[in-house]
Order: sequence, then C-alpha cells, then structure tokens
Amino acid sequence: MNILVFGKDGQLGKAFQCVFTDQKLGELHRIHYVGRAQCDLSNADAITNLLQETKPNLIINAAAYTAVDQAEQEIDLAYAVNAIAPAIMAQYAVKEGATLLHYSTDYVFDGTKTTPYHESDARNPLGIYGKSKAAGEAGIEDAFKQDPHTKAQFAILRTSWVYGDGGNFIRTILRLAKERESLKVIANQYGVPTSAPWLASISLAMVLDENHQLRSFPSGLYHAIPQGETTWHALASFAVQAAIDAGAVLKLRPDQIAAIPASEYPLPAPRPMNSRMARSALDALMNQIYKGADVTKWQQWQQSWQEPVADYVQDLVLHKRS
Ligand SMILES: NC(=O)c1ccc[n+]([C@@H]2O[C@H](COP(=O)([O-])OP(=O)(O)OC[C@H]3O[C@@H](n4cnc5c(N)ncnc54)[C@H](OP(=O)(O)O)[C@@H]3O)[C@@H](O)[C@H]2O)c1
Repeated sequence: MNILVFGKDGQLGKAFQCVFTDQKLGELHRIHYVGRAQCDLSNADAITNLLQETKPNLIINAAAYTAVDQAEQEIDLAYAVNAIAPAIMAQYAVKEGATLLHYSTDYVFDGTKTTPYHESDARNPLGIYGKSKAAGEAGIEDAFKQDPHTKAQFAILRTSWVYGDGGNFIRTILRLAKERESLKVIANQYGVPTSAPWLASISLAMVLDENHQLRSFPSGLYHAIPQGETTWHALASFAVQAAIDAGAVLKLRPDQIAAIPASEYPLPAPRPMNSRMARSALDALMNQIYKGADVTKWQQWQQSWQEPVADYVQDLVLHKRS
C-alpha cells in the first residue's frame, strides 16, 4: 500500500513518523513523508501532481495553517492550506477509492455551549483559523457526497490543545517558568490537552487492522481527545509541578500562577471558551475494535490527559528540551 503523509515537520507529522517506525510499517508499506519543501499546500497544482505521482491508498493530512492569530491577516493563505488543499485530497480519494485521514479542531465551534460538543453539533467558528478549518471539513464532506457509492472513506479527527515535538503551550509555560517568578494564565477557557503521539497512534489503530492493512470504518467526523478536561491555568500549574517533580530548577511555583479571565488577555483572534468535545463516535468505533481484543490499546484510548502530560514534561526536563 502507498501511504502519503502531509505535514512531516509538524507536531503530528513527526509523531506519525515515530509511530510508523516503532511499528516497522515502512517494511510493509511505501510511506511518503512530505513537508512544505516537497509540496506547498497553498499550490493546488503541486498537490494534484504529488497525488498523481505517489498514488496513495491512504492519505494522512497532518499539515495545516495553525498560526491562529496570524490567520486574521493571512486569510487567503489560511483558506488555501486549511480548506482548498483538503478538498483536493478528498476529490482524489473519491476518484481513486483511497482513505483520507484529516485533522480538525475545537475552533470550528463558538464555545458558547455549556456542555461538551458532539460531532453532530453545528459548526460556528469565531476566527479565520476556525473558519478555514470548518471550510476544510465541509470541502471533504462535499467531495464525498458527489459519489455516494465510492469505495473511498474519510475520517476527520477533531482534536484540541495538541503538544508534541514542536512549539506548544506547555513548552511556552516551562520556558517562562525558568525566567519569571509570577505568571498570569487564563482560567475560564476549558479544553483537553492532546498528545501528538497519542493522536497518531489512535488514528492508525482506527484505519489499520491487526495485519496493518486498511480496515473499513464509517466515514465522518470523530472527536479525538483523551479523557477529562482542564483549563489553561490548571494545565500550566500541572505542567510546572510535573517539571519540579522531574527535577527542573524553576523560578516559578504553581501557586505563583495567577488565574485570570480571558478578557484580561486579549488576542487578535477570538478563541472558544468551551472547547470540550464528547467523543461518542470514536468511542463506539474503538469499543468495537478493541474492547476484549487488545486491552493495552483500549487502556491507551481510555487514558486521561494528566498522565501523558506528566510523561511529556518529564521527558522535556530529562532531555533538557524545555
Ligand atoms: N496545535 C494545536 O493545538 C491543535 C489544536 C487543534 C487541532 N489541531 C490540528 O491538528 C493538526 C496537526 O497540528 P500540529 O499541532 O501538528 O500543527 P503544526 O505543528 O503547526 O504543524 C503543521 C505543519 O503544517 C505545515 N504547513 C503549514 N503550511 C503549509 C504549506 N503551505 N505547505 C505545506 N505545509 C504546510 C507546517 O510546515 P512548516 O513546518 O514548514 O511550517 C507544519 O509542519 C492540524 O490539522 C491542526 O489544525 C492542532
């Protein structure tokens, strides 16, 4: 099978490379890892040409325009990468009977709901990044509606607060914790931190069977986040404590992190106050795939956000990457 992974230099793209290597999938399949240098996703012809050349059976789109605030200025670029590019990938998948794994975000919601969002809830993004990602979701769905009998399948995995090998909130907090004795962090935005390696591993479990071949699954939207919920303030406090526990020498203690409302920290792009997502669709699928069959993977799926964050922080501290 040919597998094409877009976004090889991003947090999720790097995590996919690690999971493929760990599972020795390169010995079974031809895997093409593509970054900006190999294919600029704002160039539609470059995407089409690459798809024709590599003829993937499985496309993993881990690339995205993720500069949330900058997107307010670079509207065309955000839409080209987040909306037009995934639609081109979907059109290829429908025509060739391929499987498309794509990633989206809690930012497709406005965050006004007081309970977790379901896959079926209406999209109502606030800023350009969210709007471009929502357009990407719709573009994929529309491409598949063009041919209801296609053998192709797609999964759009909505996730939130991703951290991995790259820049992210946890790393920023740990850097600031070395420099400052006090910090203010937003305490009234709710979400779930998601480890990029966890997400890559769950994604592959969803699309590949025990023989590492494509499995069939219901096409559609899936919320993919660990169990639990937190706020930016609670996450910052947890990460700082985990770093101290791992032996980091910091100027900041968790009790020196002040809780502030989002209104006290204005940013160019609006963010949803509630990013909590119910993961009923993926729970049902994972239940079917794993429960009783693979206890380790089922436990991994049931994991709460705290343990992987603590492991991540410990790894950063031990390898002096924070
Ligand atoms: N990060 C989060 O907190 C978060 C939250 C919710 C959902 N998500 C979604 O999760 C997925 C993975 O996110 P991530 O955290 O791995 O993102 P990331 O670390 O920012 O990586 C995104 C990758 O996309 C590439 N890219 C951007 N513009 C491109 C272009 N014009 N042509 C080719 N490649 C381009 C970037 O290339 P360069 O390395 O060259 O810049 C980068 O490697 C995305 O779909 C994102 O929307 C992320």
